[in-house]
Parts: sequence; C-alpha cells; structure tokens
Amino acid sequence: MSLSFSKIKVLHVASEMHPIVKKGGLGDVIGSLPKAQRELGVDSRVLLPLYPNVSNNIKEKLKKISRKLYIPLEWRVFPASLWRTDIQGVPVYLLDIEDVPFPAEIYPNLLNMDLIKPFFLLSLAAIEFEKASRWRPQILHLHDWPTSSVAIALKWHMYYSSLSGLYDTVLTIHNLAHQGIMQETDLISWGIPKEVHNIEGLEYYGMTNLLKGGIIASDAVTTVSPRYSWEIQTKEYGMGLDGVLKQYSNKLRGILNGIDYSYWNPKTDPFIPAHYDVEDIAPKRKCREELLSRCGWSEDGSPILIYVGRLAEQKGIDLILLSIEPIVGHGCKMIILGEGSEIYERTLKKASLQFPTNLFVKIGYDEELAHLMYAGGDMLIMPSYFEPCGLAQLIAMRYGTVPICRATGGLADTVIDADTACDGTGFLFSSYSSEAFLHAIGRALGAWNSTKLWNQIVQNCMRADFSWSRSSREYVNLYLELLGVPEHEDNVKPNFNA
Ligand code: ADP
Ligand code: GLC
Repeated sequence: MSLSFSKIKVLHVASEMHPIVKKGGLGDVIGSLPKAQRELGVDSRVLLPLYPNVSNNIKEKLKKISRKLYIPLEWRVFPASLWRTDIQGVPVYLLDIEDVPFPAEIYPNLLNMDLIKPFFLLSLAAIEFEKASRWRPQILHLHDWPTSSVAIALKWHMYYSSLSGLYDTVLTIHNLAHQGIMQETDLISWGIPKEVHNIEGLEYYGMTNLLKGGIIASDAVTTVSPRYSWEIQTKEYGMGLDGVLKQYSNKLRGILNGIDYSYWNPKTDPFIPAHYDVEDIAPKRKCREELLSRCGWSEDGSPILIYVGRLAEQKGIDLILLSIEPIVGHGCKMIILGEGSEIYERTLKKASLQFPTNLFVKIGYDEELAHLMYAGGDMLIMPSYFEPCGLAQLIAMRYGTVPICRATGGLADTVIDADTACDGTGFLFSSYSSEAFLHAIGRALGAWNSTKLWNQIVQNCMRADFSWSRSSREYVNLYLELLGVPEHEDNVKPNFNA
C-alpha cells in the first residue's frame, strides 16, 4: 500500500495553542507543529478547549458548527458545541461543553475529579469528533495528561474501547512533572471499569494517574528530546514513572521540538525596534539599546544576561537566585521575565530593589518584552534541573543570544559547548550547583571579552537550524509506521492535490 502524506489525517488534542492560549512551550509546539506538518502535506488539525477567558480577537473569528456532539458521562449526556477557526492555515476546533466550563486557570496546583472532568470530556469528544466535524482522523495525537484520557478511553472505556480499531494514538510527554494525579479512584461513572485501577492500569500509589494510563494505553509515546526520552527512564528524572516507561520503552522515542522560524525571526519580528539576520547582525545593537532603556539603564558596554520563563523549581531558579550577587558584582546586567511560584517572585523582586542598576525583574507574562529580551540580550541563562526540550534556548540562538545552560534533556541535545567545539553555540555545565553554573558563566564572559570569538559563537547560534523541518518529518514517519505504511521516498513528497 502506498499513502501520500496528504492522506494522513491527524487530530492534535491539546490544552494550549499559541496564539489562542499559551502558558509555556506546549502552546508554542501546538501553534507550530501542525502547521509544519501541513506544509509536508499532512492533514493536521487541532482540538482545544474553549476557555472562558479566550480573547475577543479570537472569539470574533470563531464559527459554530451546526451539528452538536453528545458525550456520555456520569449517567447523563453532555451536549457540546464545536467552534471552528483557522490559524495560519491550520483548522482549529474549540470545544464548548454545556454545563461544564473549562477552568480559567488551566493547571491548578491540586487536582480533583471536578477539575479533571472537562478534560476527560474533551478526550471523549476527540473520539466523537467526526460526528460534528464530518472529518475522521486516523491518528489522535495527544499531548500531556489533559488529553491522555483519549488513549485510556480507547483501551478501557466500557463503550469507547469498541472504537479502538478506528484510531491510532500517539501520546507526547512534554513534561513528566505533571501527571494528572487525583485522589478519587472510582471511575466507574466515567465508564472506566474498577479492574483497571491496578498496577498495570491507572493505579499509582493508591491514587489515579492519567499520564500513566496514557503511557500504557497509547500506541506510541514520544517525548520532546532524545536525551529526555532516556533520562525519564531513570530514577532521578522518572518522577515515579521510570518503571512504567522502561517497561514500555519499545514504543517510546524522543523527537526534538522545533520552533516556528517565521514567527521567531529577528529579520521580521514586529515586536523589536531593529531587524537583523546572520548576514548583518549590527542592528541587534539597537535592540540592546531599547532593552537597556526599557530597564531605565544606559549603555555601559557590560554583557546583558537574560532569563525568560516560568519561575518554577524545574528551571533552576534556586541557582539563579544564588548567582545574582556574583554576576552583578562582576558588572553584568541581568534581566528576568517570568511568573510562577510566589516565593521566587517575591525573592526576585526584593533582589531587584537591592541592585537597581544591574538587575531588572518583571513578574508576569509579556510576549513583547520577551521578544525584545531575546533580541537585545547577549546571553540567556537556563540552569534547569530538568528540561524536556526547552524552547527559550532555541529562540535565543535564533536571535544571536548565546545560551548558558545545564546539560540536561533538550538543552544538552541542542546547545554545543563553545569551549569544546569550533561550531559551539553556548556554554554547558553538568553538576546542579551554583559553583558549576558560575563557572560556565565565567567561561562565557571570557569568550565575550574576545570580540572575534564571541562573534563566531553568535554566528554559530544564528546558523543553527531548529526549525520544524526535520522533526515534523520524524513525527510523520512515526504516523506512517503506525498506519502500517512503509517509509518510502514517494511518501516524503508533499502531495497537495491528491
Ligand atoms: P516551558 O514550556 O517549560 O515553560 P519552554 O522553554 O519550552 O519552557 O517554553 C517557554 C515558552 O514560553 C517560550 O516561548 C518563552 O518565550 C515563553 N515564556 C515563558 N515565560 C514567559 C513570560 N513570562 N513572558 C513571555 N513569554 C514567556
Ligand atoms: C514543557 C517543557 C519544555 C518543553 C515544552 C514544549 O513545558 O518543560 O522543556 O520545551 O514543554 O514541549
């Protein structure tokens, strides 16, 4: 059998998609991977929740599909509507369930059945989807715990398991730290028989674990970098699921994320004051000036270190806090943009008052400032304790801002240490300690002092290719494997007319 890419139908079922809703890198991935797959000729579409706080901009573009979905749960049937829009050529459907609103705060700290219920309904809606959309996917591509119940339902649900032959499922783990664990164990009213609540099923230390169930039930499991795919099979990074991941390692693979090179492009970025590319980097200086003035500072020639990201333990914020005094003492400037844990927010704000001429902290989510920082900064710090892939370092490289990262997960897979290779793109350190972090920063500052060497590293960063072109192909190859189609050159050619 031969199948051209244009005949593969994939529905990505996810909780975020830029620019509709974005909390972190998952939003970027869903905002760019389906688009890249469509460029290969795959018919990729997206199913998302319709959150109550979706912006008016987006609301204005939604069209309601006249046919409804009817989703059975808890001995009743929930009517639901699908709203459709197109984002950069990708058909996107938003699910609106009568009487069950999606939470405005997508990921609350403590989960219970009430908070998980809308996502469970979303998962069942993905299986019902064709009844309203009149388009049946072959592959249901799930992302993280909020949608892993699609695979759970197709394997174990009292009714939906009878439909498992219609679909292949791929579950992508973007972050193993979030597993959708809840106390309630009785899912009979959700259609999942009691027997599934055992060690070979959803049971996890007496609780219910949706990601675990998704890993067991999916046809294929991927994670977002090759290195993270083996790290999560170890005790240190396995977050209690290393045993399950090892058991199912034959269906697990790491596929590196990419970023959308048309959105993250210093040549055309509408958020930055001057445009540049690898052929002419000089205008980056203007972005730097604008960034300095945004912080209330003037040019003094010192290196600018930036951090853009969630303020969570995962990101190594403890190391950043310990490094502020020595970095600032060295005359560097630091700019930090992020939100998250309250204690980190408070401590960082306090530190910025202590060092007003060298440390600027903005708490919150600010897309425009993030772009300006990537363009105007000199170095990006990312000392993560673990990092499934990381997009900030890829964006920074694209903007000629040199990453200094802990060698873990996707950071190790994407950054080449400039002291060990002539095509180096950054500085890596291994041990999770402030000494190791500061040592890497020291090496970066050494390179910064040699204009020729620094320019070479910046060039290397900007020439590196982390667009989706290679990785989106890897996903397509996986789909072909699942569909039982041999990988063949013919399959590789996009076929838009078939
Ligand atoms: P994660 O998904 O773990 O949060 P990634 O590095 O994969 O980390 O992706 C983070 C994405 O979110 C990047 O696009 C980054 O620029 C963006 N981002 C994170 N925090 C903020 C913020 N406070 N303001 C603007 N953009 C942010
Ligand atoms: C997660 C991870 C991050 C990854 C992103 C997109 O939030 O923390 O490393 O880049 O998902 O896959």
